[in-house]
Amino acid sequence: NIIFSIDDSLDLPCEGYTLTVTDEKVEAVGKDAAGLFYAVQSLYQLLPPQIEGKRRVRGADWTIPCVSVRDYPRFAWRGVHVDPCRHFLSVEAIKKHIDILAGYKINTVHLHLTDDQGWRIEIKKYPKLTEIGGWRTEFDGSIHGGFYTQEEMRDLVAYAAERFVTLVPEIEMPGHAIAAVRAYPELSCEKKQIGTFYTWGTTNTVFCPGDEHTFEFLEDVVGEVSAIFPGEYFHIGGDECLKDKWEACPACQARIAAEGLEDDDEYTAEQKLQSYAVGRMEKILEKYGKKLVGWDEILEGGLSPNATVMSWQGERGGIAAAQQGHEVVMTPSHEGLYLDSYQGDSKAEPLGFGRYIPLEKIYSYNPVPEVLEQDGLSSYVIGVQANLWSEYLYDLDQREYMLFPRALALAEIAWSPLEVKDFSDFIRRVDDASFRFECQGVRYHIPLPEQPGGSCSNLVLTDSKTVSFKTTRPEKMVYTLNGREPGKNSKEYTGPLTFTDDAVIKIRTVLPGGQMSRVRTVNVKKQTLVPASEVENPDSGLVMKKTYGRFLKVADLDTAGTWESLKIRSLSEITSQEARPRDMQNVKFYAAEAEGYLEIPQSGVWRFSTDSDQLWVDGKLVVNNDGLVKRYSRNDGEIALEAGLHPVKILFLSNVAGGWTTARNDGSIRMKISSDEDFFDVEPEQLFN
Ligand code: ACM
Ligand code: ZN
Repeated sequence: NIIFSIDDSLDLPCEGYTLTVTDEKVEAVGKDAAGLFYAVQSLYQLLPPQIEGKRRVRGADWTIPCVSVRDYPRFAWRGVHVDPCRHFLSVEAIKKHIDILAGYKINTVHLHLTDDQGWRIEIKKYPKLTEIGGWRTEFDGSIHGGFYTQEEMRDLVAYAAERFVTLVPEIEMPGHAIAAVRAYPELSCEKKQIGTFYTWGTTNTVFCPGDEHTFEFLEDVVGEVSAIFPGEYFHIGGDECLKDKWEACPACQARIAAEGLEDDDEYTAEQKLQSYAVGRMEKILEKYGKKLVGWDEILEGGLSPNATVMSWQGERGGIAAAQQGHEVVMTPSHEGLYLDSYQGDSKAEPLGFGRYIPLEKIYSYNPVPEVLEQDGLSSYVIGVQANLWSEYLYDLDQREYMLFPRALALAEIAWSPLEVKDFSDFIRRVDDASFRFECQGVRYHIPLPEQPGGSCSNLVLTDSKTVSFKTTRPEKMVYTLNGREPGKNSKEYTGPLTFTDDAVIKIRTVLPGGQMSRVRTVNVKKQTLVPASEVENPDSGLVMKKTYGRFLKVADLDTAGTWESLKIRSLSEITSQEARPRDMQNVKFYAAEAEGYLEIPQSGVWRFSTDSDQLWVDGKLVVNNDGLVKRYSRNDGEIALEAGLHPVKILFLSNVAGGWTTARNDGSIRMKISSDEDFFDVEPEQLFN
C-alpha cells in the first residue's frame, strides 16, 4: 500500500512531486527521479523522528498523517559550501553532511578544494600540489593537512549523485594560491620559494597571469578535475586577489600592454588583468564542457561572457550581474548566509568568525532582490547558498554545530515559496528536527542561556546582584543553585535571580523534545570594595617589559630569556611592538608584561574585557584568556573597586593559536560598571606608574 512512481507528465516543474496519504495507502509520484527522492524525504518527515535512527525503536507511534502534498522547488541551486582547506575534513564527514542536507532537499554541495592553507585534491600531473601544498606546519610545530585522491572524489561524486546532490568543485585563481605556489613557485610573479601560511586572511602572493605557463597549469588542473566532477558548473574562485605583485611584475605588465588593458575611470589595468585571467579560464572550461562560476569580484574589470556570479559581498554583485544578463547564486555574508558567524552571544558561544546574526535573519532572507523582481530579471537568480568557512572549525562536531539548524533555514528559503514562510512555525519544525538530529547522531546548535548586556561567568556583588538570562529564540531554561548539573526537570528559569551572597548558577536550555544545551556555569562572588592605592607623584603610562620568543601559554614564560624594559603611554603599544604586515606573515613573536596603575572613575563593581592573555587588578586575575584563541574577548570578569588608582598587570603573548595571530589584536581593555549597558575603552589618561 505504499506506492512509489515517476510520471514525467505530472503538471509540475522538475524535481516536483505529489504525496498522497489516505487511511488506505501512501502514493508518492515524482516528476522525475529527484522528485520521487524528495517525496520520500517528505514522507520521512511525516513519520516520527525515531525513523531517522539506525536501530529498531519500540514504542514510537508509527503512523503517517493523512496529507495531500503538491511540492516543487523555488530554486534550482540549493547549495551548501564546504571548506576542507583551512581545516581538513574526511570524505566520510562530507558524506555525513550530504546525508543530512539531501534530506532537506539541498541539491548542491560546493567543495572549496584549494586555498592558501591547503591544496586538497590530487592532480596526477602535479603531485607536489598535495605532497607539499596539502600539508602545513602550524605555529606550534604540529602538522595539519590531508587531501583527497581522485578515486575518493569519484566515490564521493557517486555517493552524492545517489542523493541527487551535485558537487561543484572550486579551484581558486588567481588569488588564495599560496598552497599551489609553495609546491610550484614558478606559478607566482616572483617565482620564489615561500613558507607555509598558517594564519587566515588575504595575501599578495598569487598566480602570475603574465606567464603563459600559469594557464597551461590551470588547464591541466581543470582537465583532471573536470573528468571527476560531471556537473555543469565549475567554480574558479576569483575573490580577494591582491594585485600589488602584478604591478611590479614585468610579465604581468607586458600582458597588460599586449592586451591593451589600460586604467580607465572604472577599473585599474590590474583589475582588467584579473578579468583577462578569468576570461582565459572561461575558455578553458568551455573546452571541457563546463560553465564558470566565480565570487563577485569577477565583476571587476568586466564580466566574462557566460559567467555565473556568486554574490557574497552583499547583493550588489548579484544585482549587477543579473542586470547584465548573467546567472546569479546569492550568498550574501551579512544576510546570515555565512554560517561561520555567531549564532548567539560571542561571550557564551564557541569561537566564530563573524559577529552574531540571528537565525531569523537567514530565514527571512529573500534571494531575489526587489529591484530584480521589479525589472523582470528574477529568473537570473538561479539559487541561494550558505557558506561554511572553516578557519575556526577544527573538527566535524564544530562544523555540524554551525551548520544545523541554520542549514534548515537555507533549505527552506531555497525550496519554499515566499508566501508560506512563517518563522514561528519554522521554529516548531526546528525543535522537531532537533529530535531527528539526535537520532541521526548529528551535532546542532541549541540556544544557550545568555546574559543581557554580555555574558560573563565571573560576577561580583557587594550588597546584592540581579542576574538575568535570555535565549536567542524563546526556549525553556532550567537551573540549579546547589552545584548539581541541571536536568530537564530542574527548576525552570522564569525571571531575574537576585543574590546577596556567593552563588553558583548552573543553567541550560531545554527544547520541547527534552534535548538540552550544554550547561553554563556562572559564579557570583561577594566582595568588599578594594580601597584605592596611595601613589605619590605618579608618572603617566605603564612600565612594560618584553622578551622575544614563541610563547603559547602564560606558563611558557618560565622559559623566557632576557627581558627588555620600556615605558608605554597607551595600551595599543603592548601589541604593536613589531611590524605587522598586511598578510601577517613573518611577524616577530614576543611576550609583554605591562604594569602600573589604572584610574577607576567611580566606586562600584567593574566588569573588564580584553583580548590580551591576562588582566590582573589589585593582584586578582580578573580576565583569563590563557591558551584560548584570542580573536574575540572570551572571558570577561568583575571586581569591586573603590574610585582611585589600582595596581594592574597585563600579559600579552604575540603568537598564533588556532590560526589567529594576536598581532592583529589592539591591546585594548574595555570596562564598565557591571549593570551598565556599554563598555568604554581604557584611555591613556587612566594609566600611571
Ligand atoms: C569569500 O568569502 N572570500 C568568498
Ligand atoms: Zn606576474
